[in-house]
Amino acid sequence: MIELAFSILAADFAHLADEIHRAERGGGTIVHVDVMDGHFVPNITFGPPVVKAIRPITKLPLDCHLMIENADEYIPAFAEAGADMIGVQLEACRHLNRTLQLIIDHGMLPGVVINPATPVEMLSEVLPMVHHVLVMSVNPGFGGQKFLPQSVSRIRHLSRLREELGLNFRIEVDGGIAHDTVASVVEAGADMLVAGSAIFAPPEQSGTTEENARDFLRVARAAS
Ligand code: DX5
Ligand code: ZN
Repeated sequence: MIELAFSILAADFAHLADEIHRAERGGGTIVHVDVMDGHFVPNITFGPPVVKAIRPITKLPLDCHLMIENADEYIPAFAEAGADMIGVQLEACRHLNRTLQLIIDHGMLPGVVINPATPVEMLSEVLPMVHHVLVMSVNPGFGGQKFLPQSVSRIRHLSRLREELGLNFRIEVDGGIAHDTVASVVEAGADMLVAGSAIFAPPEQSGTTEENARDFLRVARAAS
């Protein structure tokens, strides 16, 4: 199933609830929350209080992408705030298996995220225990970056591995996914599509967010 996980990083924070509802009306089915700590990535965004604030305004699953060090320390707070899925960066986890287990123990769906320079093979030991693998198609830290085309073969590789191992984790992709890049990642096997700047229109044209989401999904589904 092809799904749009819209990244609220590109939304108008002064009207976050309206922004989420617009993307939802356009067909978005997952809220992607980019959590940055200013250490693992050179940017700071939001944490559990924002997750808690948006929890009551939508029924959609909240997918938290943790670009942070010491994820174990914060996983309980994200669970408490109402997160449904947590993705942790392989590069930031010293004991990845333990961290993924901690996410499961807190009743959330575990995901692992890999940066563009991390070989797909490094995932082999954890693939049987994850709900999703997020392949970064930019270096994490900022929205609005240019899609790295080598991501397509990385997704294809992961999709082949999934088939060989008889597993059914989902493949998520994040960074520079827009109307012109989405078909290539869907053809390669991605089915959870993160998009921020391609969906959220500037405040003066906020009405078009819904159309952006709808057009994006039409292009994505045509490629599946
Ligand atoms: C980047 C974040 C992305 C980002 C995507 O570090 O993980 O989720 O918000 O933004 P766009 O779609 O603008 O590339
Ligand atoms: Zn993200």
